[in-house]
Amino acid sequence: MGDEIVVGDHQPLHSKEGRSTISLIFFKFISAIFLAAAICYLFVSNFDAWTVDAEKFSMSPGKQDALNIGPLNKESTVKKLQLKKETCDLWTGEWIPNSEGPGYTHETCNQIPPYVNCVNNGRPDTGYLHWGWKPNACDLPPIDPLKFLNAMRNKSFAFIGSSICHNQVFSLICQLSEEEMAHDIYHDSTYNTRTWYYPSHNLTLYVIWAPYLIHYETIDNHGDASQINLHLHLDILDTKWTSEYGKYDYVVISIGPHFYKSSIIYENNQVIGCHYCPHLNLKKFTINELYSKALQFSLKFIATSEHNPFVIFKTWSPDHSEH
Ligand SMILES: *[C@@H]1O[C@H](CO)[C@@H](O)[C@H](O)[C@H]1NC(C)=O
Ligand SMILES: *[C@@H]1O[C@H](CO)[C@@H](O)[C@H](O)[C@H]1NC(C)=O
Repeated sequence: MGDEIVVGDHQPLHSKEGRSTISLIFFKFISAIFLAAAICYLFVSNFDAWTVDAEKFSMSPGKQDALNIGPLNKESTVKKLQLKKETCDLWTGEWIPNSEGPGYTHETCNQIPPYVNCVNNGRPDTGYLHWGWKPNACDLPPIDPLKFLNAMRNKSFAFIGSSICHNQVFSLICQLSEEEMAHDIYHDSTYNTRTWYYPSHNLTLYVIWAPYLIHYETIDNHGDASQINLHLHLDILDTKWTSEYGKYDYVVISIGPHFYKSSIIYENNQVIGCHYCPHLNLKKFTINELYSKALQFSLKFIATSEHNPFVIFKTWSPDHSEH
């Protein structure tokens, strides 16, 4: 019966901003699964080595200055990987068919939010579930939830960024649910910023809504799309992630597509330009300019902070179901 889902009888998928298509779900799904798998691999298989490594290769502020920070986090993460695991670069590989399918489905995990639950929303095919990431130089073993939870005892793990973080955290929660259920201990009014706790392992998971990493304000334009309602401050970080930064042992950062939105750009609380604003006579900023400024500022904060969590930076998020 599983294959006989009636195609025409489904509810349309529902995203927060009404822009979603079924095919895009594939990207968020594989991205989330891969990230969760890679994280588990990193922290379970090589946990001891990695903690040592993270300290050994953390940069002194002088060295950071010499390198001028820039978007180097990904490179430095890759370098660390290559130094420690010369035989396997986890990030270079390909998606291959995986007959076993994922470690969870909508039937085994009840924590998938309704608006990203493909099967319950009527997606008829299941082929997208049967893909796995294959690094060129090694196999990525399936997640061992108990090993992961044990390795994460007394730790806190934060996903910081935009909606892909939700896909990542729910993928992780679902895979861990075989061993222990996450207790929902906090959410803000939008459910975008949330905290879960695993009492048996004293592990705290955070997802922090900071889609630009820098400070932003949205102003009510009363539905008038010609009025730009997003105001971005290039020189102020979003305190939603920086104020609690000292609490996190592991950080995954994923941002990207929100920079497509029309915005007014500020520095020093003065308007200095805008993005995607043909009708305004202001200096135009490109997405690359905004993204790289926000990243450089954020990475500088991370690199010079006295607190040194293990940080994974995920490059530009693919388009996916939640914007
Ligand atoms: C949980 O972990 C925190 C942070 O490491 C620690 O301070 C606290 O004592 C732990 N609590 C329990 C009950 O083990
Ligand atoms: C976790 O924290 C508790 C309480 O502080 C401590 O007794 C225990 O050794 C810690 N376990 C690990 C693996 O850090």
